[in-house]
Amino acid sequence: MHFQWYPGHMTKAKRMMQENIKLIDLVIELVDARIPVSSRNPDIDELGKNKARLILLNKADLAEDRWNDAWMEYFREKGFSVVKVNSKKGGGIKSIQGVIQEACKEKIERDRKRGILNRPVRAMVVGIPNVGKSTFINALAGKSCTKTGNKPGVTKGKQWIRLNKNVELLDTPGILWPKFEDQNVGLKLAFIGSIKDEILQTEELAMELIKFMNQHYPGVLEEKYEVKAEPDAYAMLSMIAESRHCLLKGNELDTGKAAALLLDDFRSGRLGRLTLEYPQDVC
Ligand code: G4P
Repeated sequence: MHFQWYPGHMTKAKRMMQENIKLIDLVIELVDARIPVSSRNPDIDELGKNKARLILLNKADLAEDRWNDAWMEYFREKGFSVVKVNSKKGGGIKSIQGVIQEACKEKIERDRKRGILNRPVRAMVVGIPNVGKSTFINALAGKSCTKTGNKPGVTKGKQWIRLNKNVELLDTPGILWPKFEDQNVGLKLAFIGSIKDEILQTEELAMELIKFMNQHYPGVLEEKYEVKAEPDAYAMLSMIAESRHCLLKGNELDTGKAAALLLDDFRSGRLGRLTLEYPQDVC
């Protein structure tokens, strides 16, 4: 399966991030818990070197919990602080303040030795499009926070959200584009909806998803759509079309509609909690 990706304003976004990163102590990087490695941009390790690092396995509600735990272990071993979160429902958000303090304890200690007390930790949220950055910032900041900067009488500059006396968050998240010279990575990003469907053939993508499901989650599609197990992906897609009454004029099966339905069910968690990559497959 071949497709191309046009990164648009990538250079500008990267430059903005390079500038913003100078201002902060902590990088809060969101990844998609279903594909924690494929949803990262490797540039972030270079950009964020010398900063405290926190990885959030976001959309943890959509991924299998045993794999969420395995991925937490994986990132911890690499020296990151890690929390699994569901930004949409607020799961895991409460623990973040404590984890931020822990992740930044060296900086807090350095400040203390220099006689600087109570300087808040400054953090920036980064991640690929659609990973949940805005949802997370809203969940973390809630309603009680105040914005600083860019107000009349306040020094012109960045907008910071003061979460409490200990933490300030840059209010614009850093957008990183995923990298996928590897077609497999591209495919997984397309499954979760990070690459627009127009770039890809919906039916072709749905068939790839069927192959993945048959291999890693046998029985799930059969049960959900009340169809028989079928090794041929197109035959299975046709059966889904039949079972869900996706029909064109003249009662011909509408496999395009069935493909869109399948992808939508997968993306919104209606096929259950599913993880698409596993720590043992990456080094
Ligand atoms: P971005 O700023 O990184 O681009 O992402 P954004 O917050 O806009 O979130 C993208 C989509 O992901 C939104 O869905 C959002 O609701 C959903 N989302 C974010 N965090 C979570 C999570 O932890 N769990 C789940 N299940 N979904 C999450 P949407 O369909 O675009 O909008 P909506 O229909 O939810 O309003």
